[in-house]
Amino acid sequence: MKRYEALAHEIEEAILGGVLRPGDRLPSVRQASKTRRVSPSTVFQAYYLLEARGLVRPRVRSGYFVLPRTAVLPPVQAPSRPADTSQTVRISNFVFDALEAAGRRNCVPFGSPFPDPTLFPLAQLGRSVASAARSFTARSTLDDLTPGKEGLRRQIAQRYLGAGVSVHPDCIVITNGALEALNLCLTAVTRPGDAVVVESPAWYGVLQAIERRGLRAVEVATHPERGVDLGRLEHAIRQHKAKACWLMPNFQNPLGATMPDDSKRDLVEIITRHGIPLIEDDAYGELHFGDARPRPAKHWDKEGLVMHCSSFSKCLAPGYRIGWVAPGRYMREVAQLKIGTSISTSAPSQLGLLNYLQYTSFDRHLRQLRQALAQRHREFAHAVGRHFPEGSYATRPQGGYCIWLQLAATADTLELHRYAQSRGICVAPGAAFSTGRAFTNCMRLNFSYGLTERADRALQVLGRYVQRAADTGTVALQRQA
Ligand SMILES: Cc1ncc(COP(=O)(O)O)c(C=O)c1O
Repeated sequence: MKRYEALAHEIEEAILGGVLRPGDRLPSVRQASKTRRVSPSTVFQAYYLLEARGLVRPRVRSGYFVLPRTAVLPPVQAPSRPADTSQTVRISNFVFDALEAAGRRNCVPFGSPFPDPTLFPLAQLGRSVASAARSFTARSTLDDLTPGKEGLRRQIAQRYLGAGVSVHPDCIVITNGALEALNLCLTAVTRPGDAVVVESPAWYGVLQAIERRGLRAVEVATHPERGVDLGRLEHAIRQHKAKACWLMPNFQNPLGATMPDDSKRDLVEIITRHGIPLIEDDAYGELHFGDARPRPAKHWDKEGLVMHCSSFSKCLAPGYRIGWVAPGRYMREVAQLKIGTSISTSAPSQLGLLNYLQYTSFDRHLRQLRQALAQRHREFAHAVGRHFPEGSYATRPQGGYCIWLQLAATADTLELHRYAQSRGICVAPGAAFSTGRAFTNCMRLNFSYGLTERADRALQVLGRYVQRAADTGTVALQRQA
């Protein structure tokens, strides 16, 4: 970070933290330059940056003043209202096209599904893998077959204890990431044509899995802060004779919603009453901004109906592809399917991760990661508030690394996606998160890469586009662009 950026950052923190209030005057350039021991031009640059971020404004011959923050955070959205139907799904091509851009290196990665890889202890992990590789024997190949390395399953069981869930290591299957775990669960409990209850909007990985198996998705209204609507969920189970629910009670992707504990308990009661399994995707559970990890719904499961899936991909080791499932009463089916699908999970990766968990402070890394994400979220949310026009709504997640933006009803985020790509910016358009091309005025933005100057400018570009689209209509805009 350059000096002026560091200074701007410090002042921004003071503004966002309420130390500097609206109407307060910033120190004069001369004073700031003296106390900070930086040149006046550095102070000027910092103040210009704060002005560009909409946080301060100069007054002639009086200096810089903190602006009111009324418009800084966009308002929270209302819950979704999907139709009460079940749909076969055709989304894979669409998702593939829309997200292919996320992998491009020179893009501003708002559309990326991955957290910023620089937030992970890759060097330490590399050392753990190297050291584990030295102890890798011919026996390891057999020892680590499905359900997976015993020591690693024990480490995971210990983490479950910390999250308020009691799971024996023998009741865990190590998988190739959470995605394989989720897919194995879905295959274990459904047959083609069955209905599966999902959130609305839902993570496209769910919709793709449903599409591949010829299942029907029943999308249920989901509140941007409190998660899935339980009344509608129970109605949907009855109405469509659903065979499973696939939900993300913690930091739902894409909304970021987290169900309150009471709702999680009620959810488990509902699925238990109907005797159907809940496939619980808890891939973001460790990424909380607050003090405590939210409990998984599995905490309330007495009948073994909750199939809890997670991984190290989002919180420690992206690319290692180590995930797991605690499938409850479906242990045997899931383990057999795992063997039939991929025999077992890469033994060196399992060994490397176990080595890291045994000899390094995973919790220290997690604390740093959570702090960084919380900080980046704060900055990003405020920047969204500054750059997007009135009528834009954003979710306010308490964890994870994405926010969901809802723009004016006339906005078309597929068009915006194409326009943004031409400007080197990737976004995840809302249509990828439903079966029926809903959410065409919404998009998901990944904030984990931080509010660099480039990212701030990119948000400005998107915000201006949305404003112009509202003023002139999307078609006219395309011709101008
Ligand atoms: C909500 C959600 N669940 C599951 C996954 C899959 O995780 P993994 O990379 O461990 O397979 C992802 C990855 O993007 C995700 O966003």
